[in-house]
Amino acid sequence: MGVSRRSFLKASGLGYLVLGTSSAVAWAGSERPTNDRIRVGVIGCRNKGYNVLREILRTGRAVCVAMCDVDNEVLQRRAAELKKDMGQTPKLYVDFRKMLENRELDAVVVGSPDHWHCLHAVYAMEAGMDVYVEKPLANSIHECNLIAAAAERYGRVVQVGQQQRSGDVWNGLMNYLRSGELGELRRVNCWANFAYGAGAPRVPDTSVPEGVDFGLWLGPAPERSFNASRFHGNWRHFWDYGGGLMTDWEVHLLDMALWAKNITAEPTNVSGFGKNLSGLDRDRETYDTQSALYELDDFLIYWQQNGGVERGPYGKSYGVEYVCDRGTVVADREDWTLYPEGKDGSTEQAYAFKLRSGRSDMELHVNNFLDCIHSRNKPNCSVELGRNVALYAHFGNVLARTDSGSLRWNASQQQFVANAAANRMIVPEYHHGWKLPDV
Ligand SMILES: NC(=O)c1ccc[n+]([C@@H]2O[C@H](COP(=O)([O-])OP(=O)(O)OC[C@H]3O[C@@H](n4cnc5c(N)ncnc54)[C@H](O)[C@@H]3O)[C@@H](O)[C@H]2O)c1
Repeated sequence: MGVSRRSFLKASGLGYLVLGTSSAVAWAGSERPTNDRIRVGVIGCRNKGYNVLREILRTGRAVCVAMCDVDNEVLQRRAAELKKDMGQTPKLYVDFRKMLENRELDAVVVGSPDHWHCLHAVYAMEAGMDVYVEKPLANSIHECNLIAAAAERYGRVVQVGQQQRSGDVWNGLMNYLRSGELGELRRVNCWANFAYGAGAPRVPDTSVPEGVDFGLWLGPAPERSFNASRFHGNWRHFWDYGGGLMTDWEVHLLDMALWAKNITAEPTNVSGFGKNLSGLDRDRETYDTQSALYELDDFLIYWQQNGGVERGPYGKSYGVEYVCDRGTVVADREDWTLYPEGKDGSTEQAYAFKLRSGRSDMELHVNNFLDCIHSRNKPNCSVELGRNVALYAHFGNVLARTDSGSLRWNASQQQFVANAAANRMIVPEYHHGWKLPDV
């Protein structure tokens, strides 16, 4: 069977499509009237948390009643913006525990650094709220498990902030890959090359900036002096708070590999390497140069990251390459391109597709969250999907940090096979009196 532009569109369902990709909304039998506005709060509002909140408010289907941040400058600035742009005046909090006592809240956006996701998400669910939690689901394997268990125990809706799961480009691509037009999908290569992945410039420690509750920023992480290169935004390069490009980007892109084959099983075999090999004047612990190879039954997934540079395969700093029998598809958040195989094995003309409905991945993803709060359906990026891909990413980091070369995982025991060093990284040690939640 030849691969043509027309068959390509037909198989992807895009010839006649389709504005929006959210799952069907089952209003009937929902818990609350659909014209009710959801009362939402946000924990951590400097960057992505505020971005998610704004998308939610833009739908006109929600109102912001609470905002929390441990940096008073951030909190006041975002509150002023919210009042000016959207006319909303939520109650403001420094301590999330106080915010969660606010019985007005229906739902909470968790936009804090990764080391806080577990406590913020679990306590919000325990307080009866639905949760939009940013990716990666949590900063360790065990914390991912706790959030998934809490969603089950408290019956809460959890949308994980992997917005590509709701996006047009990716939904159309999944339809196409599953149509069989290209034959078997046997390998997916994903990459993320970003300058910021080398960390921030080294700067000396300073006193804590005025208005910052640094104790509440560190939370369960170990005691450490204040340093701007480990603080706002930059925390992602330090193991106590984040996992580098691996957990920042792999969870988005590797998820697109798993989704193509609807893989929901935990990883079993991973091999790879991670080191800091360049830009050693920058401040970081996570790796600038890292690869992981995930071996599944009939499928290989390969991840590579290069912090400190922006160039990558096909001229893209990040992307996903799907290698199939009759062609290769290369995708990013903007478009995808098909490189069909020729009859003699040569590569024929490539077709590029920009397949947008005009609604952004974020707009679709937050609408899907609100739909599910009403319907109690599973959101497009359920806690189970978010947990699973976060495990793939954490395995890559555990592997590199223990210099193990390869790891095998026993899913029923939730342990790595014969690797004590790797097993010690499953459950994080909590500090400053914080305890792993009892779920
Ligand atoms: N889905 C995406 O495309 C996407 C993009 C960027 C970031 N993210 C995710 O969003 C999360 C936040 O990242 P960011 O770039 O916004 O980080 P950031 O450092 O810019 O912002 C985090 C905010 O949380 C606040 N904070 C820290 N501890 C807190 C606590 N205990 N209570 C209340 N507030 C607290 C900080 O003061 C800061 O204002 C991360 O998990 C990140 O991976 C997702």
